Amino acid sequence: MRIQRTLPPAAAPIAADDICKGFHALFSGNAEVENFRAEVQNYFQTKHCFLLSSGKAALTVILRALKRICPERDEVLIPSFTCYSVPSAVVRAGLKVRLADVSPETLDYDFSGFPVHSGHDERLLAVVCPHLFGLPADIMRMRRTLNDSGAVVIEDAAQAMGTKHGDRLLGTFGDAGFFSLGRGKAFTAVEGGIIITGSKRLAAEIENCMQALNPNTAGDGFRLAAYALALSILTWPAFFWLPKAMPGLKLGETLYNPDFPIKRFSSFQAGLARGWQNRLAAFQAVRKKNVLAWQKDLARFSWLTPIPERNNSAAETPPLIRLPVMVQSTDLRDALLKASDAHGLGIMPSYPGAVNGIAGLQCVNGPDNFTGADKCAARLVTFPVHGFVTRRDRQKILACLEETGKS
Ligand SMILES: Cc1ncc(COP(=O)(O)O)c(C=O)c1O
Repeated sequence: MRIQRTLPPAAAPIAADDICKGFHALFSGNAEVENFRAEVQNYFQTKHCFLLSSGKAALTVILRALKRICPERDEVLIPSFTCYSVPSAVVRAGLKVRLADVSPETLDYDFSGFPVHSGHDERLLAVVCPHLFGLPADIMRMRRTLNDSGAVVIEDAAQAMGTKHGDRLLGTFGDAGFFSLGRGKAFTAVEGGIIITGSKRLAAEIENCMQALNPNTAGDGFRLAAYALALSILTWPAFFWLPKAMPGLKLGETLYNPDFPIKRFSSFQAGLARGWQNRLAAFQAVRKKNVLAWQKDLARFSWLTPIPERNNSAAETPPLIRLPVMVQSTDLRDALLKASDAHGLGIMPSYPGAVNGIAGLQCVNGPDNFTGADKCAARLVTFPVHGFVTRRDRQKILACLEETGKS
């Protein structure tokens, strides 16, 4: 165990004052939740908004609602390289996972080999399009590609709350969108999921699914409060070595587990989130500044390719939650991760493997080869861009890159 300054890979800090607001809200019933819901609805200018216990709970509820609308369709297309919560939610909704490969240049779907073409695809219920790390996926291209297949586009904006593409917020391009308020996301309420949709029919079915959920208990509120307190302290670089040293916490691991709780968002979380628009905007401004700084600094390392590569437009640079960087080889990637771990630099691997390799998950086209996903799993790392990254941290990381590049 190394007791040293350790950068978390991503962070959206929680202050003591936020926790006090959460506690206060514990005693104010549903009004705080309704207030948060109205704010989210107004922010995204969306007709319908639902609040749940997590991003995967949100995706599951969207899929259950879609299944009620189209019971004859039972497959959901997801990228072969994404968070394992996504296939977990598909399976939890009682549906089958179909996979398509990703492009290692964009982390979006590889449209050149896309397995759905125009025309009717009778089994396909929905396509999930994630904005990985906050990188805008090409939803309009997806819509054109699906054409008249009859499948619905679900925007997985779990990692992209508050990010715009052009002048439109991510999450509002699909037939439905969802966000995560989990740890390490753009903004956190410790846990949480948000669904937005403009479809009246889908919203009515989602509302039916919501009615079936059990109400939150006082125990849920106190569990979340304890978690918030721990997070507010342990995300600081001075203390992050501690949770990192506890293997039982499985920090940074992405797990496949369809057996997760599906609950409503609690009043504690709504209280904790109070003032979220300003806090989110402040976090995003710092992240964008750091993405731009990394893009400039990494240009001299030929063995590292940030995604997206530097372009000259600061306005078009998204405020990512972590900067994904492709490393030239797996050996260099491993050397970099080892050095980062030793010095607490916050450079982390991404997902450990393609979705078709998940033990216990059966995909409709599982035996296919997903070379884009395999390349990402073998060579992608992420650099920290949150507000705890200081100039001195950046210098230490750059010195580590110089050393690793010589090896
Ligand atoms: C791309 C993506 N989709 C969905 C989820 C699920 O969100 P949650 O952790 O809130 O269940 C995550 C969470 O990490 C994610 O990164």
